[in-house]
Amino acid sequence: MKLQVRNLEKCFTDKGTYVNVLADINLDVYDGEFVSVIGPSGCGKTTLLNCISGLEEPDSGLINIEGEESQSRLGRVGYMPQKDLLFPWRTVLENALLGMEIRGHSRIESRKRAGELMERFGLDGFEYKTPSVLSGGMRQRVAFMRTLMTDQELIVLDEPFGALDAFTRHQMQEWLVDIWSSMGKTIILITHDVDEALLLSDRVIVLTARPASVKLVVNVGLPRPRRYRMVTDTAFIALKEQLIRALWSDEV
Ligand SMILES: Nc1ncnc2c1ncn2[C@@H]1O[C@H](COP(=O)(O)OP(=O)(O)OP(=O)(O)O)[C@@H](O)[C@H]1O
Ligand SMILES: [Mg+2]
Repeated sequence: MKLQVRNLEKCFTDKGTYVNVLADINLDVYDGEFVSVIGPSGCGKTTLLNCISGLEEPDSGLINIEGEESQSRLGRVGYMPQKDLLFPWRTVLENALLGMEIRGHSRIESRKRAGELMERFGLDGFEYKTPSVLSGGMRQRVAFMRTLMTDQELIVLDEPFGALDAFTRHQMQEWLVDIWSSMGKTIILITHDVDEALLLSDRVIVLTARPASVKLVVNVGLPRPRRYRMVTDTAFIALKEQLIRALWSDEV
């Protein structure tokens, strides 16, 4: 088991207003699994990832990574935040190296590793450019590279494709699945997009509106490799109906 979340609760108090965000979240993610989490906007998805990665402390509940109840989760999870957060004054290579730098890897070793990965991430030739000359898809790939280059096995991605046009998004989705299957990582992906969740994941977890709890877990038994044209298959549509019904129904 890579990640176990039990009875997780989190609320915020902001200028005297109390917001209950996560209510009793329970979640298991297995080694090497690709899990997507979908839920209404503002329900607490980013807060959940912040708790898993150690950026926020939950009010109550347990988060175990690889069987250990880890008090200091910071640095144990590769986190790609909702915004790509590339530094405009750093080159593509220096941006990609940031995660390894923070984790204290040697500069020479990191540069060598980054050099080897540039081509695979479709960034060769751009190592010494700044992010301002990159397309949206390329910026995402630099942010992915920064997240995947560190040696964490659990990677959490917060709506990485939200800002991309449909064509680039499909290319990046196929590319992410290739990377996931060849690098043996465990991935938790937050998305608004039901098709994306079904095309990429082994399981899809639907959250309720705020305060979020798990409303439905769907096993996606569709064969791999999955291609975009599968969205019209009967089996795909049946799963999609189940997810949409859970997302839009009011019952908890
Ligand atoms: N640091 C904070 N202080 C106060 N309130 C917060 C804080 N972080 C998040 N919230 C509130 O928690 C709720 C959930 O926010 P969160 O960003 O987790 O939602 P989300 O599901 O990721 O939304 P979206 O789909 O729009 O990205 C929101 O009402 C937000 O205002
Ligand atoms: Mg969010």
